[in-house]
Amino acid sequence: MKWLDEIHVMGKCSLSGEIFIQGSKNAALPMMAASLMHRGRSVLKGCPRISDVFCMEEVLKSLGAVTWWEDHDLYLDCSDADGTEIPETYTRRMRSSIILLGPVLSRNKKCRIGYPGGCIIGKRPIDLHLMALGTLGADISEQTFYLDAECSRFQGKDIYFTKSSVGATQQAILAAVMAQGVTKLHNCAKEPEVFWLCRYLRSMGALIKGEETKEIMITGIRELGPGNYTIPPDRIVAGTYLCAAAATRSEITLRNVPEQELQAFLEVYQKIGGQYQANGGTLEVNGKRAVQPIALVETKNYPGFPTDLQAPLMAVLTGAQGRSSIRENIFDQRFGSAFQMNKMGADIKIDGNQAVICGGRPLTGTQVQAGDLRGGAALIIAALMAEGETCITEAELINRGYEHICEDLQALGCRIWQAGSRGFEEL
Ligand code: EPZ
Repeated sequence: MKWLDEIHVMGKCSLSGEIFIQGSKNAALPMMAASLMHRGRSVLKGCPRISDVFCMEEVLKSLGAVTWWEDHDLYLDCSDADGTEIPETYTRRMRSSIILLGPVLSRNKKCRIGYPGGCIIGKRPIDLHLMALGTLGADISEQTFYLDAECSRFQGKDIYFTKSSVGATQQAILAAVMAQGVTKLHNCAKEPEVFWLCRYLRSMGALIKGEETKEIMITGIRELGPGNYTIPPDRIVAGTYLCAAAATRSEITLRNVPEQELQAFLEVYQKIGGQYQANGGTLEVNGKRAVQPIALVETKNYPGFPTDLQAPLMAVLTGAQGRSSIRENIFDQRFGSAFQMNKMGADIKIDGNQAVICGGRPLTGTQVQAGDLRGGAALIIAALMAEGETCITEAELINRGYEHICEDLQALGCRIWQAGSRGFEEL
C-alpha cells in the first residue's frame, strides 16, 4: 500500500465557514505554455500550487526556462528556453503537455515530443492538434514512441475543427500568434480557458479577434512581449465546493467565484434544491434543502453543463430520494467513480454513456480508489455524506487540480486528512 497518497474522511459532517477559490488549473497550463513564446520574463499571478502546474513548470525548465515562485505568483524567464525535446515521461504524466508542441515549434522550429497518455476518462486522441499544426505548415512524423515535428515558420490558414476541442483550439491559437499572415479558426471551443488564453496572449501583443465565439481570427506578429496576468478563478473547483455544500446540507461562503462561467451548472444546482446568493465574486451557498432527483443532466461543450462537474454532481445525487440520470457526451469513459460509490452503498447503473442514480440509500465509509482528478473529488463528496471513515487511495490524482482540498474542508469543520510525506496526520 502506498501510504503516501491516501485521503481519509470522517463522514456525516456539516460544513460552515468560507473558502477562497484558487486560480484555474485549466487556464494556467496553456498560459504557461504561451509564456514560452516570449524570450524574457513573464509572471502569472494567483497561480494554483498544484501538481499539474509543477509538472508543466518542470517541462519548461527542461526546455531551458528558469522559474520561481513568490507566494502564488509564478515567474517564468524563457530567455534561454531553446530546448526542443519533451520526453514521454512528461507527456504520460500529464497529457496536457501536448499543448507545448505549437509554442516550441513556433519559437525553436522543431520538437520531439512523447505521446500523451490516455487516461481513465477516455482515449484522449490528439488528431485535431496535429491537423491544426499540419494545416499551418508543420511537418510531423509519428514515430513509435514519439512525434518528430519541424516548421521554419507557421503560415496563416483557415482551420476547420470537425469537433469542439479545448486543447486543439488552444494549440492552434498558440501556433498562429507568431505565424506569417492571418489564421481563421472555425468551430472553435468556447470554454473560458480558451478566451482567457486569448486575453493573456493579447496582453503580450498578440492580434486576436472573436475569442468568445466559434470563429477566431489571428493575425501573426513577429514576437510576443512579456506576460503579466492574473489567473482567473477555477470554475470547476468552485462547482466542486457547491456540490460539497449540497451533499452535506450546509451553508458556506465561497469567495473569488467566476459565477458567470458556471451558469449551466448553477441552473442544475437550483433544480436539485441548492440555493445561493451571488454578491460580486462571493457566493453565499445554502445547501440546507434536501437534494431533489433530476430526470436528466447532459454534459455539453461550453456554455453547457461541464463534463468536469459530472462526477461531483453524481455524488450529490446519490443522496436524493428518487431516480436521476446523467448523460456524458464529451468523454467515452467518465463514470469510473460510480463503481467506487457503489462500493459505499450507492445504487448507480451505467448503460453506455448514461448513468442512472437511484438515490436515497445511505452510504457507508470504506476504502475506495480515485481513478481521475474529478472522480477523486467526487469520492471526497461521497465520503462527506457517508457513515464512518472513508479511505481514498491514489489521492495524488486529486492534488493535480485541487490546491488544498483537505485544508479547505478541514477549515469548514470536516475531519479530513491526507497521508503525506510527514506520515499520517490530522490537518
Ligand atoms: C480540457 O481537456 C480539460 N483539460 C479537461 O479537464 C476538460 O474535461 C476538457 O477540456 C473538456 O472541457 C485541460 O484543459 C488541461 P477536449 P482537452 O480536447 O482539451 C476529443 C480536468 O479534469 N478530442 O475539449 O483534452 C476528446 O477525446 C480535465 O481538469 C479528439 O477527438 O479536452 C474528447 O472526446 C479532464 N481529438 C473531446 O474531443 C483531439 O485531437 C473534447 O476534448 C482532441 C480531443
